[in-house]
Amino acid sequence: MSQPSKGQKIVKNPPIKDVRGLQAAMEKWFSHEGRQYPWRETEDGYEILVSEIMLQQTQVATVLKRGYYKRWLERFPDVQTLANADEDLVLRAWEGLGYYSRARNLQKAARHIMEVHNGVFPRSLAEIEALPGVGQYTAGAVASFAFDAAAAAVDANIARVLTRWCDFRERIDTTYARKQLMAWAGSLVPDAGGRIWNSALMELGQHVCKSGSVACQKCPAASWCRAKDPLLLPIKKKRKAQVAVEEHVLLASRSDRILLEQEVGRRRRGLWKLPVRSIEEIPDDSSVSKQQYTITRYRVTMFIHELQNVVARENERWFRFEELAELPMPSPYRRVVVDYLAGREKAMKSQ
Ligand code: ADE
Repeated sequence: MSQPSKGQKIVKNPPIKDVRGLQAAMEKWFSHEGRQYPWRETEDGYEILVSEIMLQQTQVATVLKRGYYKRWLERFPDVQTLANADEDLVLRAWEGLGYYSRARNLQKAARHIMEVHNGVFPRSLAEIEALPGVGQYTAGAVASFAFDAAAAAVDANIARVLTRWCDFRERIDTTYARKQLMAWAGSLVPDAGGRIWNSALMELGQHVCKSGSVACQKCPAASWCRAKDPLLLPIKKKRKAQVAVEEHVLLASRSDRILLEQEVGRRRRGLWKLPVRSIEEIPDDSSVSKQQYTITRYRVTMFIHELQNVVARENERWFRFEELAELPMPSPYRRVVVDYLAGREKAMKSQ
């Protein structure tokens, strides 16, 4: 990250005239174009926090379509329930969303609220930002969406919109750019409330001022926007290339049990997966299938080896088939296990 250097002074006000007019135009547009999401129908800090944490690395459509949000709130309807829940149950409820530290942090945040705030969701930006797993963006989003605070919240969508409105032709992945965009976002958010404003900015970035296409003729902010060539903005460092890796896992069963390994790494700690072996340890005659999945920047080819007479190692346990549904398990392994059990069931029936 670069530091602000000479000539890169943060300016408080964006190069936009008639900010009030822009605010009014955006608000009007959002009142008929804004989509209805469940988290736009609540002012509950906890419910908003859950939505923001889910939406950090998961698309709106996924969170909605697969029912993750609704199901989470049914299982953990309030801070107290989540604070007191078993971690296993919490991870299981997060299954499919990935980046499991988000679920663990959400539970830590719930415990923090119980201990520090007597179970009452904090309202100040500083107190919200002090919650585990909550950074500057999420704190601003929660403060504005739940409590209508005039707080800046700059996510990737809003950064793109601001960069174009201001024709900001600097790289945005620097400390200087982040501070500059935060300053502009803070000066644009109406004192009367950030809920509608931040929602409208986000909506504009998601549906009008998109990264690969722009619909300027439909944009309520077009007459305020200074972008000469919006599709060239924002300027970012190139993404790191994906790396292809291979993983060899066992599908080892013993009567009505299957062998699983508990993860000890940071990312998926506590989750159960198929046991991993090095290729040298796999007998040549194992029956193999393969599947692919992506995690962060790794494109993983997972070779699944069906084996008999496997001995459990440290962190490995035999689970009865009926126990599997309750265990937290990363999606790629869950798919293999579900297919395997379905195949067995079918074979049994046809016997
Ligand atoms: N992405 C992150 N937060 C969001 C929100 N509140 N609405 C829509 N998309 C979002």
